[in-house]
Amino acid sequence: MSSEGKPRGTDMGTKEKVLKILQEHSGEYLSGQEIADGIFVTRACIWKSIKALKEDGYEIDAVTNKGYRLRSNVDAVSEDYICSILEDNNIEVYVYDEVTSTNDVVIEKARESKKCTLVIADSQTKGRGRRGRDFYSPKMTGLYMSIAMPIEVPISEMSDVTARAASATAKAIDDLIFDGEDATTIKWVNDIYYNEKKVAGILSEAHTSLEDEESYIVIGFGINVYKPVDDFPKEIKQIAGAIVSGERADNKVRSKLAVRIVEYLLQYMDDDEASIKLYRDKSMLIGSYVKVDTYKKNSRYAYVTGIDDEYHLCVKYDDGQEAKLSSGEVSVIKY
Ligand code: BTN
Repeated sequence: MSSEGKPRGTDMGTKEKVLKILQEHSGEYLSGQEIADGIFVTRACIWKSIKALKEDGYEIDAVTNKGYRLRSNVDAVSEDYICSILEDNNIEVYVYDEVTSTNDVVIEKARESKKCTLVIADSQTKGRGRRGRDFYSPKMTGLYMSIAMPIEVPISEMSDVTARAASATAKAIDDLIFDGEDATTIKWVNDIYYNEKKVAGILSEAHTSLEDEESYIVIGFGINVYKPVDDFPKEIKQIAGAIVSGERADNKVRSKLAVRIVEYLLQYMDDDEASIKLYRDKSMLIGSYVKVDTYKKNSRYAYVTGIDDEYHLCVKYDDGQEAKLSSGEVSVIKY
C-alpha cells in the first residue's frame, strides 16, 4: 500500500490551485471572482478552499471589497523554487502536504524512477527517529525531507553518511539562519543543537532489493524550523528547540534550507576533508565527560578524546580503557 497522498503540482485539487495562485501573488489582495475565473470554479468553491487553507494553518486575510491575501510571511515549501535550483543535479523532487514518513515515500519513488529522489512533506503522521522513537512532525513548523540515492558500492562503505549529512545540515542552518555565524553544534552522531536544544536529527536507512539487487541509501532530515504554535509536547519540551526564534521573516526559509542542505550533502559526500573538519569543529562532545550507552553493554562513563576520520567517537573510559565507537548514544555529564 502506498504511504503517501498526492504530491503537490500533480492533479491539483481546488484548494491546492487556490493556494498556488495566492502564493504567486503573496501579500496582494485578489478578489474571489478573480481567483474563481483563473481556475474555472465558482466563488463558493473559492470560499470553501480558503476556509480549508485557514484550517491548515495558512494565514489569509479576507477583506470586503478587496478579496483574499496570503500573508507574505507564510513559509510554504515551494516545489517550483526547489526544482528550479536542483534541476541541474538531476534529482527528482516531490512535495506533499502530508505523508506517513518521507523516508518511506522516498524509497517508493526512487524504486520507480531508479534516480536520486527528494521528498519533502509539510507534516508527517508517522515520522520516526533513531532507536524506534517517534519524530514529532506538525504542519507549517518543520522541514521534513528525505533523499534516496542509488548506490553501487556495498552499503557497509556508506556507514559515515549520517555524519556527513549532519555536517551538511549544520552548515546550511548556519549559512541561512545565522548569516554564516558558527551557531550550531553537532552531537555525535546525528543531532544538531542550537542554544543547548536539539533542533534537528537525521535518520539514515539502507535498502537493498533482493529481486533486482539494487541498493539505495535513504537519508531523512527532520529540522524544527519554527516552534510549534502550542509548543513542543511535554515529553520533548526540555530538549527540543527551533532554529528561528520569533516572527517568520522570509516566506521561503524552509525551501532555501532544503536546497542548501542537499547542495552541501552532495559536496560533503565527495569532500572528505571539508566534511570531517566541520564535523570535528562543531562537535559538542570532544573534551566532555559522557555517559555511553551502546546497544550491547550497560552504561559506562568516559572522556571523549576525539573523532577519527571514519567519524568514530574516540573515548577513554574511567578504567583507562580506550575505544572507538561506531554507534550508540552518549549524554554529556554536567557538573
Ligand atoms: C532522530 O533525531 O532520531 C532522527 C530524526 C529524523 C527525522 C526525519 S523527518 C524526515 C524523515 N522521515 C522520518 O520519518 N524521519 C526522518
